[in-house]
Amino acid sequence: MEKYRRWQHDQEYLALVSDLLAKPEVQRLADFTQHHHSTRLEHSIRVSYTSYMIGKQLHLDVRAIARAGLLHDLFYYDWRTTKFDLGTHAYVHPRIALHNAEHLTKLSPVERDIIIKHMWGATLALPKYPESYVVSLVDDYAATAEFMHPWRMRMLAKLGAATVVNGK
Ligand SMILES: [Fe+2]
Ligand SMILES: [Fe+2]
Repeated sequence: MEKYRRWQHDQEYLALVSDLLAKPEVQRLADFTQHHHSTRLEHSIRVSYTSYMIGKQLHLDVRAIARAGLLHDLFYYDWRTTKFDLGTHAYVHPRIALHNAEHLTKLSPVERDIIIKHMWGATLALPKYPESYVVSLVDDYAATAEFMHPWRMRMLAKLGAATVVNGK
């Protein structure tokens, strides 16, 4: 997944999130599987950086996108096995992530909206800002891509083998 590591060399992006990435509360996300084939930290960085790149193109608040994108899944339980009486995982975990994020850093209104509304579609409240829509859509895309990654790699390997056999 080399293309997903571009963020490590993007100084502009790193200037926005390096203080958060250095925090143990964020690094701890590496201990949790998110979408079968990725850790929650990998997923959060992917959502943050991809949303940041799109936000740049659209001239949006990229600081809010990068930071809230990184913190949007700041929770520490296995969502497959832990259930809550208060509501579904889609409803509960953005609220837990917001609570945890507020302990790490001061959040702007846009950052708060990005985190609390990132499950829009599965939950009812509409995002207030275009930045929130970008992160929510990228989150959906990343979840699917991460889940499908091994299958995609197998297909590409088969296609590569077929190309060799056919002499192309
Ligand atoms: Fe989430
Ligand atoms: Fe997510």
